[in-house]
Amino acid sequence: MESSFLDVAPGGIESTRFGRREVQIWRVWLNTTESALGFYRAALCLEERNRAERFRFENLKRSYVACRGGLRVLLGHYLGCSPRDIQLICGQKGKPALRGMSSLRFNVSHSGDLALFAFTLDCELGVDVERLRELDDLESIASRFFCAAEASELLSLSPGDRRTAFFRCWTRKEAYVKAVGDGLSIPLDRFQVTLLPGDPCRFVHIANDAQTALQWTLHDLELAPEYIGALAYQDSPRPTTLRPAVGAEQLPAIVGSDEGG
Ligand SMILES: CC(C)(COP(=O)(O)OP(=O)(O)OC[C@H]1O[C@@H](n2cnc3c(N)ncnc32)[C@H](O)[C@@H]1OP(=O)(O)O)[C@@H](O)C(=O)NCCC(=O)NCCS
Repeated sequence: MESSFLDVAPGGIESTRFGRREVQIWRVWLNTTESALGFYRAALCLEERNRAERFRFENLKRSYVACRGGLRVLLGHYLGCSPRDIQLICGQKGKPALRGMSSLRFNVSHSGDLALFAFTLDCELGVDVERLRELDDLESIASRFFCAAEASELLSLSPGDRRTAFFRCWTRKEAYVKAVGDGLSIPLDRFQVTLLPGDPCRFVHIANDAQTALQWTLHDLELAPEYIGALAYQDSPRPTTLRPAVGAEQLPAIVGSDEGG
């Protein structure tokens, strides 16, 4: 079990679940059992159940139920309440947040079968995971959406190294727009991240301002083979705990044993 500092932050039980300034990251495999899906479905609110029903493809519906249900289980763990009692609101650009006064902040991403959840106190954060996949036109996507310096760094790599660098850049940029909460309404060429192998993971500039970039932290996340992930937040580096990847059917018991410990 992680260390707890009962006196770190005033507020509710969530302050007891984190080490000082800690970010906790959970990885959950979403391809799960019928009984786990039944459990998660029962944790959803009516609006979420209706959203699940609107997915045309069964695999997307199941992923959504496991991902949103998993989020509720984890929020229930941090807040000391039942997953069903969590009240979520949605920001103007779709970023989910807790209703009310909690200092708990979180963000979610999913790709392929993997969901990524990040939690901390008093600091907005953003995460992104992408399953590495073949893209025929990554150079043209980069020249259309990335800033010119990023696109030219990508082209400086051998074709065999470009796919990983492309997804490294993409996840770093998505983590930023998700931390801000504006999503892809922020032009991706408005800020620059590093992407070359061996370059430290960081913002180079934000809106052409290198000083603003220094106020932000970017982390690469080693999640699973063939997946790439990133975390961004506006603060100096925080201690980050990456929890072992678990199946969605295991999550409630693992969270419960943490609470008992
Ligand atoms: C946020 C965004 C970048 C996510 O991109 P993605 O790679 O397809 O998806 P990810 O798996 O990384 O993240 C999805 C999760 O991010 C969260 N999210 C949604 N919008 C978000 C936002 N603006 N900022 C941060 N997080 C957001 C949700 O938890 C979502 O999960 P859910 O779909 O199960 O609810 C993209 O969807 C976007 O730009 N959305 C904005 C759309 C918009 O303007 N909507 C306004 C009406 S609500």
